[in-house]
Amino acid sequence: MSDKIFIFDTTLRDGEQSPGASMNIHEKFRLAQQLGKLNVDVIEAGFPAASLGDFECVKNIADNVRGPQIAALARCNVKDIDTAWEALKNGENPRIHTFLATSEIHMQHKLRMTREQVLELATASVKHAAKYTSNVEFSAEDASRSDLDFVCRVFEAVIEAGATTLNFPDTTGYALPEEYGAQIRYLLENIRNIDRAIISVHCHNDLGLAVANSLAAINNGARQVECTINGLGERAGNTAMEELVMILRTRGEQARLHTDIVTEHIFPTSRLVSTITGMPVQPNKAIVGANAFLHESGIHQDGVLKERSTYEIMNPKDIGISTSNIILGKHSGRHALRDKIKEMGYTDLGEEEINRVFERFKAVADLKKEMFEEDLEAIIMDEVLRV
Ligand code: KIV
Ligand code: ZN
Repeated sequence: MSDKIFIFDTTLRDGEQSPGASMNIHEKFRLAQQLGKLNVDVIEAGFPAASLGDFECVKNIADNVRGPQIAALARCNVKDIDTAWEALKNGENPRIHTFLATSEIHMQHKLRMTREQVLELATASVKHAAKYTSNVEFSAEDASRSDLDFVCRVFEAVIEAGATTLNFPDTTGYALPEEYGAQIRYLLENIRNIDRAIISVHCHNDLGLAVANSLAAINNGARQVECTINGLGERAGNTAMEELVMILRTRGEQARLHTDIVTEHIFPTSRLVSTITGMPVQPNKAIVGANAFLHESGIHQDGVLKERSTYEIMNPKDIGISTSNIILGKHSGRHALRDKIKEMGYTDLGEEEINRVFERFKAVADLKKEMFEEDLEAIIMDEVLRV
């Protein structure tokens, strides 16, 4: 089994399902380009059948972004799959991602379908998608609450129909790491034709376990992780890409597990997502929070000054956080401020936005002896993000 973990970014699809996080076509395109720089393996660009706007966004990205595979979501019906393909067809390596629920709760109350009907529809839908592309992913929605032997039957059938990625979502964020890891192992040991596909995971964060569950799945043989920048997503969100990637980079070496993510782009990408969606990152958020590499206590500061590794397990530079010692005050000029703003990860502010931040900065600096990054962060939030 390969040691490479494929990163499937769904910020533009599941991430956009965060209440208040909708993005326009220009913002989505800008983010897709940034995800290309980050070197994600797959960008899920949207759900073309959901609206004309989403169709246009996916098409724009598939037509113009090169590097990552571009995926589009489709329910298991001919119209959705045809619409997804119409949006994707000019892409370099397009992927149709189709899904159907397999849990009793969903089949009985939402789909009102029997197991046999679900099996048949999933198989027929994957077969239809495979007429367009050999790159087909099938997701068994609510898989972690499904009967595992039934999921195995469905996965075996969709592999025969042409699926090459099988996604096992924890749709409701209900799973526990040990349990979820064991489910992945069960699939690998019981699906007859599994050598023709890879297992993917897609975890929601309702109990705060999305990253832990994804990690447990990887340790048990999953090789694709679906995730979002800053952990955005439906309800409490999805697996935070920056956390999973840095866990593998910091602790995955023994198992030789790795991703191809260019980690130096993580921090600017996090800030871009925050700027575009207007959703600030909590200061104590792992990896990308404003406090993630700040040392407040004297004992810690002393330790870090003597030897960084006393209190830092990662190098902030690896995440794209540069630690130059520019100190800002009322005498600082526009140039120093612009550099500092960039260093903080806000690489996308326009001249007019920087000017507004500069005016506010001067006014506040006049009243304070020292300006901290948090002061500047608050000004940016207020002036640019309006939060
Ligand atoms: O959470 C989920 O099950 C999903 C699927 C569509 C993959 O988002
Ligand atoms: Zn989801």
